[in-house]
Amino acid sequence: MNDPDILVQAAQAAFDAAPTPAELENAKARFLGKAGALTEAMKGLAALPVEQKKAQGAAINQAKQRIDAALQARRDALARAELERQLRAEALDVTLPGRRRGSGGLHPVSRTLMRIEAIFRSMGFDVADGPEIETDWYSFTALNNPENHPARSMQDTFYVDLKDAEGRWLNLRPHTSPMQVRYAQAHAQRHAGSGAMPEIRVIAPGRTYRVDSDATHSPMFHQCEGLWIGENISFKDLKVVFTDFLRRFFETDELEVRFRPSFFPFTEPSAEIDIAFAGGPLKGRWLEVAGSGQVHPNVVRNYGLDPERHIGFAFGMGPDRLTMLRYGVNDLRLFFDGDLRFLSQFQ
Ligand code: DAH
Repeated sequence: MNDPDILVQAAQAAFDAAPTPAELENAKARFLGKAGALTEAMKGLAALPVEQKKAQGAAINQAKQRIDAALQARRDALARAELERQLRAEALDVTLPGRRRGSGGLHPVSRTLMRIEAIFRSMGFDVADGPEIETDWYSFTALNNPENHPARSMQDTFYVDLKDAEGRWLNLRPHTSPMQVRYAQAHAQRHAGSGAMPEIRVIAPGRTYRVDSDATHSPMFHQCEGLWIGENISFKDLKVVFTDFLRRFFETDELEVRFRPSFFPFTEPSAEIDIAFAGGPLKGRWLEVAGSGQVHPNVVRNYGLDPERHIGFAFGMGPDRLTMLRYGVNDLRLFFDGDLRFLSQFQ
């Protein structure tokens, strides 16, 4: 092992075989360290005769330089490999599409409610909001729907585990009709004693609740109430206003509107409003979109108004149903499942 050439070869092989900088430094110690092979060879010089010492010394020095160079070369190679590995790991593909923040959008039913509000506002209607937890009086009695009357069972109701001042269970309102009474009462009070009473023209959209669940009914759904009360408002006005609303809502004049006699406790006469499209997939089929009628005198009295002087009409429509018709959706429950694959189609 004392032949300098063999030492250089052995060192070169050991360095090349070192896979990491740490192992390379270990290999270095085996040759250049205090007890390393080259150091041992130097120590061996002392025992040599003078003339050999010179030649051997020069050879060992040269070997040391070559081993140093080999070590440095291997260090550089390992450092380069490490750098390349890092660059590869952190590689950035600038051609990839960027990550965008998802943008939300309006729910289709919200879009419908906004359209309804805009159209009725343009016809001079106010837009009112009211409580979803109601008293028995506002949900039923004030609307000429007395306790134990069979008409109440048209609206199987959710009750809340709380009672009102009269000891009656509060309910989740089964319709927006209580808002007729709340709004008209406030209006009547505001103008009491002022002689002339301005007309009441209001819509009240909002959430409503019934024990119902199938493709066209959901326990939570939406309604929009409408009320127009004045000194001389007739069924003819209802027909004109509602027909105009529907044509603007569906953006077509090719729409037939039919008022079909019906029954509601709070109106007399009462009518169901049906529409039929002149074209499209629903062509020619009559579809019910609202209930309506001339407000019953008992209800006008509950507004705090005189039914001899104040008459008018009310209607209640289903914005969910209007949304289904407008977009061709056949299952109401899709609106409330929260599935983005469905909802994002309306953006
Ligand atoms: N409240 C009724 C319902 O939920 C709808 C309705 C019918 C409202 C006639 C009205 C009306 O204002 O006049 O079925």
